[in-house]
Amino acid sequence: MPAQFPQARLRRLRRSEALRDIVRETTLRAEHLVYPIFVEEDCDEFTPIAGMPGQSRVPESKLADEARRLSQLGLRSIMPFGISHHKDEHGSDAMDENGLVSRMVRTIKEAAPDMVVIPDICFCEYTSHGHCGILKGNTVDNDLTINNLGIQAVAAARAGADIIAPSAAQDGQVAAIRQALDAAGFDDIPIMAYSTKLASALYGPFREAAGTELKGDRKTYQMDPMNRREALRESLMDEAEGADLLMVKPALAYLDIMADIRRNSLLPLAAYQVSGEYAMIKFAAEQGVIDESAVVRETLGSMRRAGADLIMTYFAPQLLEEGL
Ligand code: PBG
Ligand code: ZN
Repeated sequence: MPAQFPQARLRRLRRSEALRDIVRETTLRAEHLVYPIFVEEDCDEFTPIAGMPGQSRVPESKLADEARRLSQLGLRSIMPFGISHHKDEHGSDAMDENGLVSRMVRTIKEAAPDMVVIPDICFCEYTSHGHCGILKGNTVDNDLTINNLGIQAVAAARAGADIIAPSAAQDGQVAAIRQALDAAGFDDIPIMAYSTKLASALYGPFREAAGTELKGDRKTYQMDPMNRREALRESLMDEAEGADLLMVKPALAYLDIMADIRRNSLLPLAAYQVSGEYAMIKFAAEQGVIDESAVVRETLGSMRRAGADLIMTYFAPQLLEEGL
């Protein structure tokens, strides 16, 4: 039986910074952070993203310099998203070995060979209609799309991707990608599944940043935020299909789901603190109502506590600059 008050006084271990440090249960280190960046082709200037203060689209022509700068800052992992000027019905540029996905990966790996490069594998930034795959009627054709995701994943692997991260939220996409990678000789390349991806209203600033043309929504393929059992099932199905890492996205509103997955899987787990989560903190801090750095650490800490090993966050460079 643990001691009770007055024998037990929890404040004894809180008396000094040093005491608090040695009993802290949860840590946040550089290797836990993955930085998502937006890379725009045919463009020479950094373009600030209005909905995400502090973030800019990186021109492809300056991507190598940017990768070297981030690497010197201590960044270990990066997740490039493309802003395409070559969109079509099928998002074919994303499957092209000289398309933007492949070029971003090659450029970063050449400039910063030690950086873990995790390209987002999807079609919404490359399709004229902004959906995450081949459109049939009002929704995405699942089985045609997972075949194309396999082609895109192989192109990204050929370009040097360290991890393949499919975000299209199609059924069977992990198995299809695993099969395509293995058939092309990339049986060593891991898949980080966006395994529990919710149809969230928190992606708003991202869609502006990435310039996706989406009309309508993704509710037929991303899952309903109200479903806790289904959220666990989504991740366990991806594990069964061969995922090497799992993910919950968005993060802060879904800590219960993270904790469920942590208890039901032994795979590494990632949390994606999405654009809307970033924006909420940034704009509240701009108004002077919260301490930005403290809130960033507290929210990322909650994800680590809930079981996340890795965190995708737009705050990554800022945290590295401040020191972890
Ligand atoms: C699309 C994709 C989205 C994000 C990452 N990949 C948006 C969406 O599903 O519409 C969101 C990231 C963010 O909001 O930061 N496959
Ligand atoms: Zn998509």
